[in-house]
Amino acid sequence: MKLVVHGVTKEFVTGQGVTRALGGVSLEVRDREFFGIIGPTGCGKTTLLHIIAGLEKPTQGTVEFVGAKRTKSMVSMVFQESALMPWRNVEENVPLGAEFRQEEPSVYKRVSRFFLEVVKMLDFAGAQPHELSGGMKQKVAIARALANDPEVILMDEPFASLDAQTRLLMREELLRIWERDKKTVILVTHNLDEAVMLCDRIAVMSSRPGLIKSVVTVDVPRPRNFKSMKDPDFSRCMEKIWDMLRYEVDSAMNAAHSSKRA
Ligand SMILES: Nc1ncnc2c1ncn2[C@@H]1O[C@H](COP(=O)(O)OP(=O)(O)OP(=O)(O)O)[C@@H](O)[C@H]1O
Ligand SMILES: [Mg+2]
Repeated sequence: MKLVVHGVTKEFVTGQGVTRALGGVSLEVRDREFFGIIGPTGCGKTTLLHIIAGLEKPTQGTVEFVGAKRTKSMVSMVFQESALMPWRNVEENVPLGAEFRQEEPSVYKRVSRFFLEVVKMLDFAGAQPHELSGGMKQKVAIARALANDPEVILMDEPFASLDAQTRLLMREELLRIWERDKKTVILVTHNLDEAVMLCDRIAVMSSRPGLIKSVVTVDVPRPRNFKSMKDPDFSRCMEKIWDMLRYEVDSAMNAAHSSKRA
């Protein structure tokens, strides 16, 4: 076991009142697992990742990293937009974790080049972020997360801003990278087939206040690639998740309509 989230609730208090974003989330993520979270918009997925990352405090409940080494970072986050530092070139963007830990410059240079090689971006080591495409920026963001060598990598819709074909390619790249050293990853996505292709298990969340409705095991064999989508287990798994999700998406949409009318 790597991560245990127990009874986490979150209420945001604003001028408009109280929003109950999470209604008591409990989940367990295993060591080296690729764990997916899927759920309707506004059900608290990003809030949950922020709480796991320690960026936000839960109203109730706990987050525990089991057997974590004190010397390591607990998490790295990969956001929807790559959030690279625009004034640094690619190579200087990757080893931020090592820099914060005040390691030798020669160490973080080596770390940076190693992980740029992993994501096949070493040729662009000297490029500025604005010179890269969206997919390339996300690859650098993934290299940065890997280079930090955290206990868990959190990804919040990392490919949402990319076009459909780049998204497919990035999915395969991420699979390739993950098969290499099997980090523990938690991925939030709206994309059903992306979740099934990448994940070992997928938590389906209810509409707000978010709860885990069910955790589905993906039985599609690894290593996976584009062709895995033709596997009958693949479509069975997608159907199972969609059956649970469609009701939640519908109720989230109805709630949005009725709050507009009110
Ligand atoms: N800082 C905040 N202050 C007030 N309310 C917030 C804050 N952050 C999130 N919320 C509210 O909490 C709820 C959950 O938001 P969150 O961003 O976690 O949803 P999400 O599942 O990630 O949605 P999406 O799929 O659209 O990204 C929403 O109703 C949102 O308005
Ligand atoms: Mg979100």
